[in-house]
Amino acid sequence: AASIEVDISSLEKGSTLQVKWRGKPVTIRNRTDKEVQEAKDVQLSDLKDPVARNANLDANADATDINRSAGKGKENWFVMIQVCTHLGCIPLGEQGEFGGWFCPCHGSVYDTAGRIRHGPAPYNMELPPFDLTPGKTVRIG
Ligand code: FES
Repeated sequence: AASIEVDISSLEKGSTLQVKWRGKPVTIRNRTDKEVQEAKDVQLSDLKDPVARNANLDANADATDINRSAGKGKENWFVMIQVCTHLGCIPLGEQGEFGGWFCPCHGSVYDTAGRIRHGPAPYNMELPPFDLTPGKTVRIG
């Protein structure tokens, strides 16, 4: 199917759901306030890839935390294709120097907004098209 609907009613702050969409692993995370704050505190000039890579926004939208989240008022909610932009391994969550994702294949380090911060990956991990209602459901695709 082109799209899937996922129940996120039991997804508390600090927890993650893993689903598959079009054969790809997708992570749905209810981020902690600390994770959101840390991602917000990063300057765009400190990012290796300053582009949001969010299918729900313009292709040239910048990689601010809000543009990487589910949007205004939904900043804790985060939906991302969990595929490393280097050679396609699956990074591990809540790992690495920035407490985001760490790719064990060649050491790419992503922050709590899934933005590449160190290592060989060239781009932030992609956000799929989605429509999220906090504490209820998310439709992906
Ligand atoms: Fe992730 Fe190479 S595939 S660092």
